[in-house]
Amino acid sequence: MPAKNLIADRSTFRHRLAYALRHPARVPRHLARATRDAWLRYRHPDHISYYRAVMRSDTRADPDAAVGSRTRERWLALGAMQFDYLLGHGLRPEHRMLEIGCGNLRGGWRFIRHLEPGHYYGIDISPDILFAAQDTIVEMGLEKRLPMLTPVRDLTLRFLPDAHFNVVHAHSVFSHSPLPVIEECLASVGRVLAPGGWFDFTYDRTEGEEHHVLREDFYYRTETLVALAEKHGLTAQFMTDWEELPHGQSKLRVTNRREYSSDTSRS
Ligand SMILES: C[S@@+](CC[C@H](N)C(=O)[O-])C[C@H]1O[C@@H](n2cnc3c(N)ncnc32)[C@H](O)[C@@H]1O
Repeated sequence: MPAKNLIADRSTFRHRLAYALRHPARVPRHLARATRDAWLRYRHPDHISYYRAVMRSDTRADPDAAVGSRTRERWLALGAMQFDYLLGHGLRPEHRMLEIGCGNLRGGWRFIRHLEPGHYYGIDISPDILFAAQDTIVEMGLEKRLPMLTPVRDLTLRFLPDAHFNVVHAHSVFSHSPLPVIEECLASVGRVLAPGGWFDFTYDRTEGEEHHVLREDFYYRTETLVALAEKHGLTAQFMTDWEELPHGQSKLRVTNRREYSSDTSRS
């Protein structure tokens, strides 16, 4: 895993040209993706509909690749990384967990196996990837754990109860989200967090200009996301131990601000 490049602006022509010269074999695939994405953006001007269409196209080709893993081996390893991290931070079977952007349960199937039946709730904007998630439940023999899988149009979480979830988790979701989508989530998540609960999310971190590539991959400065959390009564903590793992993104942990001072034992 190469070190994170925290300065590059991948949206610039200069960066893209240099990348193409370094990796000429990847150019046709990138051009095909850019053309498809331009067509999907034209047909679906709002971000959620656009990204849902991207997921539909990607899931049809290969559900594991649609969530970012080119091989089953990597899919299993990336899921294990998410699971082991949360287990190390105190995820217990009796906890209730909400996974935002659960995909085809790369990490989710391990959470479902660990948690008591009915304690896992996965949401995603893509019905197609949720169909693939059902395949994962069958493949892993988890039918009796009764996980909930629900398609959503937005991240208002309005159909979920107050103070219910001990752990909310979003892996590689905000790396595909414009800021208003992240803000909608941060404005809502405090309500559904149980006392002492926490929300972990990964993001593509930049220390240079914030930017996006093809409106698929978004790069944010940590202070932007921390300030957004604070605006909505939350405290965000940069997870330094996540940086030690072989993963290209960074992680923030969000808690309800009024609880934070009396409950720092988890961190
Ligand atoms: C890269 S995949 C990661 C899936 C899963 N978290 C994992 O680690 O395997 C991103 C997932 O987030 C979903 N997603 C993207 N934007 C979303 C949003 N605003 N609300 C809910 N799900 C979203 C996508 O449909 C996709 O399934």
